[in-house]
Amino acid sequence: MVRYYTIMAGFHTKTFLKHDDYMTPKYAWENIKQFIPKDKTIWEAFYGNGASGRYLTEMGFNTIHEDIDFFEENRGDIIISNPPFSKSKEVMNRLHELDKPFILIMPQPKINTSYFRTWKDKGLQIIIPRKRIQFVKTVNGEVPKDYKSDCNFECYYYCYKMNLPKDIIWLE
Ligand SMILES: C[S@@+](CC[C@H](N)C(=O)[O-])C[C@H]1O[C@@H](n2cnc3c(N)ncnc32)[C@H](O)[C@@H]1O
Repeated sequence: MVRYYTIMAGFHTKTFLKHDDYMTPKYAWENIKQFIPKDKTIWEAFYGNGASGRYLTEMGFNTIHEDIDFFEENRGDIIISNPPFSKSKEVMNRLHELDKPFILIMPQPKINTSYFRTWKDKGLQIIIPRKRIQFVKTVNGEVPKDYKSDCNFECYYYCYKMNLPKDIIWLE
């Protein structure tokens, strides 16, 4: 009960750790649009400021993007998101339970973690961006005035059951 209350308080009061509040720029989804099927419903499962789901919708994908708890809900056919990196282990464990296709943007070193190792026989595939993704920081849902992104780490798109033509795709 206490744990539940803590999570829900985070949702409605926007008290998530600041370092998780980095939003995906639209180009990061446009980069991989050719790998996303148009006939499936996407669940952009981590809300942030809501822009990410809007971008996917604008790109023509049927997208569910709501301010709900990923660990309590299960929507859509394919999960496409940039999750809170501070909860990577919990997210990856929950994805084992859901066992549905996903594309997740996460830092490149995550693949060396023990919780990623639990995916080693499950056919994960990776898309490698051409350039570092510059996320958009938000504070209380707003982009700070004069903010300039300066992300200093690389991310991959980690894919599961997406039937990519190759296990490693290097974007041009
Ligand atoms: C890295 S941000 C990315 C937001 C959005 N998916 C995007 O790509 O722009 C991760 C967001 O996950 C949200 N979050 C944290 N815990 C969550 C949970 N248990 N369920 C759903 N969303 C959560 C927070 O709002 C946080 O801003």
